[in-house]
Amino acid sequence: MKYKSSTIKSKWKKTEWLLKDSYFRKYVPHTLPFNQKNLSAMLDDYPSVFFKPTDGSGGSNIIRIRKIDRGYQSQLNTTKTSYSSTTQLYRDLNRFAGSRSYLLQKGIRLAKSNGKPFDIRVMVQRTRKGDWITTALFTKVGNPNKIATNYNQGGSIGTFSKTMKDADFSSTFTSQLESELKRLGVAVGKNFDRHYKGFQELGLDVAVDSKGKTWILEVNTRPQIYPLKALKDKSLYNKILSYGKHYGRYK
Ligand SMILES: Nc1ncnc2c1ncn2[C@@H]1O[C@H](COP(=O)(O)OP(=O)(O)OP(=O)(O)O)[C@@H](O)[C@H]1O
Ligand SMILES: [Mg+2]
Repeated sequence: MKYKSSTIKSKWKKTEWLLKDSYFRKYVPHTLPFNQKNLSAMLDDYPSVFFKPTDGSGGSNIIRIRKIDRGYQSQLNTTKTSYSSTTQLYRDLNRFAGSRSYLLQKGIRLAKSNGKPFDIRVMVQRTRKGDWITTALFTKVGNPNKIATNYNQGGSIGTFSKTMKDADFSSTFTSQLESELKRLGVAVGKNFDRHYKGFQELGLDVAVDSKGKTWILEVNTRPQIYPLKALKDKSLYNKILSYGKHYGRYK
């Protein structure tokens, strides 16, 4: 059987789907299309703003902008550049974007595990009966010098419980978060079904900020699981494959 699950590339469209439902509103960091007015407005409101291609890119081409003493500093991969005004900054970002569509998103201060920023992947899959179920939680632990935790940006894969323990979150908080994330995954599945047909699986990128608040950074419609093979324990990988068999996921 051939893999079949719908794909929506536009992060903007997927964010709008979530924002239409009041249940998700508190989970979605403020997001706006990239233009000069929105850039200034976002930088007035938040100490850090992410500039991301609307169509996604596996963590590359993402720039973090931070307010500094005398202006702004951008960071692309590990390269930092300073600007004294938003006009100057806008000009550079615009040149970088070229003809590609970009969005701006409030920067979330990711919680750290053993000093490394991390976010959480929530894997949601449709059962043979047609219901949504959250089948796996795992973490992407980033390189502290980079701004994206993605595996192909040098991030490593961790288990949810170990990463949370190394982040000094209590076991009570961790188990509450686990239930919250599982519920959230199923709710996102139901929400997406209302907007488009044929999703069989979704992968939420969820951040926990330094205060323990949960944020949905994006919803992937074609979540990759090969990085999970790096874990010694293959049970999560195998569980996802077994749930994915009926829609043609074999790796
Ligand atoms: N608003 C944000 N605040 C803090 N960190 C962020 C934010 N947005 C993105 N990041 C970091 O960058 C990583 C990649 O961002 P995101 O998942 O939105 O794009 P992507 O992975 O490149 O997209 P795609 O999966 O569609 O290719 C996140 O996992 C997170 O580590
Ligand atoms: Mg991502």
